[in-house]
Amino acid sequence: PTDPVLPDLPPGAWRDAAARVMARCDRLAAVSSRTDGIERVYLSPEHARVNGVVARWMQDAGLRTWQDAAGNRWGHRDGRDPDAPSLVLGSHLDTVRDAGRYDGIVGVLAALEVVRLLGRVVGGFPFGVDVVAFWDEEGARFGKALLGSSAVAGAWDPTWWDLRDEDGTSLRDAFTTFGLDPARVAEAARPRASLAGYLEAHIEQGPQLDRAGAPLGVVTSIAAARRYRLTVVGEARHAGGTPYDARHDALLGASEAVLAVERLCRAEHHVVGTVGRLETFPGAVNVVPGEARLTLDLRGELAESRDRVWGLLAGELDQITGRRGLTWSAEQVHDAPAVVCDPLLRDVLRAGAEGTGQRDVLDLFSPAGHDGMALGAVTDVGMLFLRNADGISHHPDESVTVADVEAGLRALAAAVLHLAHE
Ligand code: GLV
Ligand code: MN
Ligand code: MN
Ligand code: MN
Repeated sequence: PTDPVLPDLPPGAWRDAAARVMARCDRLAAVSSRTDGIERVYLSPEHARVNGVVARWMQDAGLRTWQDAAGNRWGHRDGRDPDAPSLVLGSHLDTVRDAGRYDGIVGVLAALEVVRLLGRVVGGFPFGVDVVAFWDEEGARFGKALLGSSAVAGAWDPTWWDLRDEDGTSLRDAFTTFGLDPARVAEAARPRASLAGYLEAHIEQGPQLDRAGAPLGVVTSIAAARRYRLTVVGEARHAGGTPYDARHDALLGASEAVLAVERLCRAEHHVVGTVGRLETFPGAVNVVPGEARLTLDLRGELAESRDRVWGLLAGELDQITGRRGLTWSAEQVHDAPAVVCDPLLRDVLRAGAEGTGQRDVLDLFSPAGHDGMALGAVTDVGMLFLRNADGISHHPDESVTVADVEAGLRALAAAVLHLAHE
């Protein structure tokens, strides 16, 4: 029997492609800044190494490839008209600290396999096809996420140059060290007219598909997300000699704030808040903490409900710090709007997923952030989620099966073909 998506494919081609995606995820997992886990951040030596490996894979798949002015890696295959806009397929290659193998990575490698399998068929398309590997979606190094995709969306904010990593290196200096020119970052921007849409496959990072026993789901929208750096300041003093009525313990104030985040978010619909990092200064066993620094990740299906939580939290911080003789301040380091996925792209992804034989293709809201949040400002966005066992992600146990990757490849390829024949 001929293949229903690509009649010329030999039997087993999808399974082989899925197996290649899995093997390549393993291969990239070995490129890490640590020996005890996976970590690949923006503008690091690992970024350069992985871009080099993926560039070779892009060439092997017959793509013309380049690195853009923000460090994203691209591959391109022409459609009928070499000047036609591109349908972009991809995801990201950077990771969080102590990451799994698939968040972002599987979407880049799936895009590459789809374009390889489509092969010469692309030459008849009314659009070209691009594969993109973004850096950095996670914002693990500078706090601000979606840096590479923001550059592509033409939304690079010059205030970001002064963001610093943990070692005090500025984003500007990291650019230069990596071999990029900060003065040219605007060249990474892709004008709206050069884009025919953006499709991304990604593991779900939540348990809905696994609970429903469904391999694939189609994303309806992505949550509005903000990140803050909070600082609570008190007074560092002797841990023995300072009586309670003379203490201004910054950590105790911060601790109350952390619990308030949970209480306020739980009281809102579809808002989650996370304090993922908490440091105290001077950080000594026998000194009352004089300063506490916290990160806060706050997201909501609706920006209004997220911002209501922030407003209430600010009020509580005033009270907590007032009561304890402390002060507090906040810096917003990341802001991404909610993005509603395009109805046509949702339809073609759904049809593609149904074509794999899956009966109940779920519609899913994504509380997790994705590069489509930045791309949504310049083109239509569609996302396909792959089942992720137990929904565990941002963790070494992150997983996806070869069978689900195969289904994802078929669905994505079918979606691209639908669009080409619109
Ligand atoms: C990225 O994975 C994010 O949702 O923060
Ligand atoms: Mn072209
Ligand atoms: Mn992630
Ligand atoms: Mn991701």
